[in-house]
Formats: sequence, structure tokens, C-alpha cells
Amino acid sequence: MQAPSLILDGVAKRYGATVALDDVSFTVAPGEFVALLGPSGAGKSTLFRCVTRLVAPDAGAVRVLGRDMAPMRGGELRRARREVGLIFQQFNLIARLSALENVLAGRLGHAPTWRVVLRRFTRADRQLALSALDRVGLLAQAGQRADSLSGGQQQRVAIARVLTQQARLLLADEPVSSLDPQSAENVLGALRGIARENGIAVVCALHQVELARRFADRVVALREGRKLLDARAAAFDAAAFEALYGTVPA
Ligand SMILES: Nc1ncnc2c1ncn2[C@@H]1O[C@H](COP(=O)(O)OP(=O)(O)OP(=O)(O)O)[C@@H](O)[C@H]1O
Ligand SMILES: [Mg+2]
Repeated sequence: MQAPSLILDGVAKRYGATVALDDVSFTVAPGEFVALLGPSGAGKSTLFRCVTRLVAPDAGAVRVLGRDMAPMRGGELRRARREVGLIFQQFNLIARLSALENVLAGRLGHAPTWRVVLRRFTRADRQLALSALDRVGLLAQAGQRADSLSGGQQQRVAIARVLTQQARLLLADEPVSSLDPQSAENVLGALRGIARENGIAVVCALHQVELARRFADRVVALREGRKLLDARAAAFDAAAFEALYGTVPA
């Protein structure tokens, strides 16, 4: 078995009297797609911030791709962060740039500054970006301005950007919350595809349990900062739903 892409070991984080995370431990293997479930305020976004070190945990350890980012500074931290791709509910694309230019932005962390300033990407960078757009089914839209794409297409551009960044761990915080059902399925299908085919570990916060059951390999469920469940996605049944959300599934 390959070394885990992500290890959380006893991670805790408080904000004043609010316990955002309490003794949370789990691991994610390369190529695995883990859905992070939990009601609003359960600690999902805080967990992502602890992984990227935007927030320092009060206790516990996080290992990303085999390394502890806590002691890292400067260039070393930047290089480590480059291996972690982030996808958010809002698509975070540059509106006036084309799909291809947005995807090429994934190379910025790799390019020397002068190339960035001159917007000179190498032929290899362009090929990487075009093949990533092809992977998410958007090659035909490469030249289209980001703000003229649908929400689902924009989110797939964001996934192509992460592919081009050559991230090995992908954190997606409610990537489908502002999408219609069909677009949500396209986006989750693209995420599952890159997990399986590129061996990227994906952790995806979701509010839709049905989508988690259908697309994820595993479910990690948080409630009030504590890990309530870590199970095969198919095992997340009506009883688990009620334990997590306090209501029966609709
Ligand atoms: N910067 C902060 N200052 C104070 N409290 C915070 C801060 N960030 C998060 N919290 C609190 O920590 C708890 C967990 O928040 P978090 O955003 O991680 O939840 P979440 O599971 O992502 O919720 P949602 O599904 O609504 O996005 C909440 O009670 C929240 O109010
Ligand atoms: Mg959140």
C-alpha cells in the first residue's frame, strides 16, 4: 500500500469558546475520493484551513504528502502548498481571461518570475493546460472568456487548473453547492476521474449525502468538530444520516 497523501492525527482547533475541531484523525490514500460531510458549523472548512496551514491547529499533527508543514517557511512552504490544489464553492477564476489562461495560471507556482511577468508560458505548459481542459471536457471552450462559461463549466476549469498545477492532494470545499444537479454530477464525475486516473487524493466537503454516496469512496462525517463516522460511502445509511444531521433523510 502507498503512503497516505494526507494524515490528520488528533487535530484540534478552538475559536474562543467555540470548539471547531476536536481530536480529529483520519487518513486519505492516493487516488481515494473522500467526502467530508457534516452540518453547517461542523468544522469542515476549518479542517481544510488546518491542512493548508492557513490556520495553525491547537493540537495534533497534519502530514501532507508525507511531510509536516508546521515548521516550513518561505519557499519551502510555497512549494509544499503547490502540491495541494484548492477548489471552492465560488469558482475563483479571473473573469476576463480565457479558460486556457485561467488553467495556465496553475503553472504560475512553477514558473520563474520573469516568465510570469511577461506571461510567457512554455509550450509544455500550454500542452499541459490544453490536455487538462480536454480531461474535463472543455477543450472546445479553451478560448472562451471565463465569465461567459456556465457555473459547472467554470468549476471544471478550476479542476483543470489544479491538474495543471500538478497537485497531488485536492481539497474541495463545497464545490457543487452553487450548481444545478446535472452540473454538480459533471463536476463530481470529473473529481472522481482525476482521483482514480491520476492517483490524486481528493477530500470534498459536501452537503448532499446522495452525491457523497454515489461519487465518493469513503465518507468522513464531522459533527460539532468531532469525527462521528469514517466508513465506506455505501455504508452511509439512513441511521448514519440521522445521527449526523438529527433528522431523517427526505
Ligand atoms: N475565524 C473564526 N473565528 C471564530 N469562529 C470561527 C472562525 N472560523 C470558524 N469558526 C467557527 O468554527 C466552527 C466551524 O466552522 P467551519 O466554517 O469550519 O464549519 P463548516 O463545517 O465549514 O460549516 P459550513 O457547512 O457552514 O461551511 C463554527 O462554529 C464557526 O462559527
Ligand atoms: Mg464550510
